[in-house]
Amino acid sequence: MSIPRIASLQQQSISEVLTTSTTIATTSTNLPPIDKSANNNKTTQSSANIKKLLISNQILSKNNLTKQSLTTKYSQEASMSAQQNSPLDINQNTVNSFTSSINPPPPPLYIITPTYRRPEQLAELTRLGYTLKHVVNLYWLVIEDAEEPTPQVTKLLQKINVPFSHLVAQMPAKYRKNKVKPRGVSNRNRGLEWIRANASDGVLYFADDDNTYDVEIFDEMRYTKKVSMWPVGLITKFGVSSPIVKNGTVVGFYDGWIGGRKYPVDMASFSVSVRFLLSRPNASMPYKPGYEEDGFLKSLSPLKLTEIELLASNCTEILVWHTQSKKNPNAMSLDMGKYNNTNLVHLRNILV
Ligand SMILES: *[C@@H]1O[C@H](CO)[C@@H](O)[C@H](O)[C@H]1NC(C)=O
Repeated sequence: MSIPRIASLQQQSISEVLTTSTTIATTSTNLPPIDKSANNNKTTQSSANIKKLLISNQILSKNNLTKQSLTTKYSQEASMSAQQNSPLDINQNTVNSFTSSINPPPPPLYIITPTYRRPEQLAELTRLGYTLKHVVNLYWLVIEDAEEPTPQVTKLLQKINVPFSHLVAQMPAKYRKNKVKPRGVSNRNRGLEWIRANASDGVLYFADDDNTYDVEIFDEMRYTKKVSMWPVGLITKFGVSSPIVKNGTVVGFYDGWIGGRKYPVDMASFSVSVRFLLSRPNASMPYKPGYEEDGFLKSLSPLKLTEIELLASNCTEILVWHTQSKKNPNAMSLDMGKYNNTNLVHLRNILV
């Protein structure tokens, strides 16, 4: 007697899954694709191309998301059914999947990734991109310190197929001759500018391409009301950089280099709500090596230490690491006399 009921519930659940996938996809499509904030000719020019890319990327990702969520749901249900003999249990699983599928999508995450052309670039972006692919309702702002977006990077971003914008922002010439360069600052400020022009809610996070991320941190950070913080592993001789937490609030910071900073934290250790950023129209990152995080967080004032939301179970877990990768020498140039008409000609275009 229970069989027809299960069948019809499963039917219902499948059509709900379809509706939900569409909802998620629509939400990502609703993330603003048009860059209203472009303020120089080069960016404007490339953003016209980017708009085209973005649209096709989003169409692709819409189809893909639908297919992907469906496949996941189907295989989850299939494996649950396979494991369980009781029709009642199958029924319960179907109901669970039904109720979880009617929840609204979570707040959007805007991930700002500064990057620049170097031998490790494509490898690092590949690793980060496929991590971000596990996170729903995420928009990836990949911002190169370059004159023009690198075509190999654009191609990779399209292939990974996380909703993205590929922008450029060059370091001002006056800093380029410095021994210690303020790397990534122009890129991150460009990302902030994009968010101010295009976003109204959700959460922003600076995710450099040389870190390792447990996907759990993304789902924790997306409910940030003002500023959230958590530990980052593999930082300085201390092995970790973290807020010091006592009775649920920040009483200081543990970091191998304090340097007179109010916020001695790593770039990967905090997220900021978009609404909070918008309430601080002058907040930006200074071109001051070593003081980028501190300067940006100070520019968000007023912000009390007691207002900082502590993630990773009150900062008792490490969910992000500053892995870095070995610095590789630039590739030697190819002897075209010797290797013309071979595959190596194609590889040469990828190498830096
Ligand atoms: C964090 O600490 C506060 C205060 O001790 C406590 O109320 C809260 O439940 C803790 N949160 C987690 C996730 O452990």
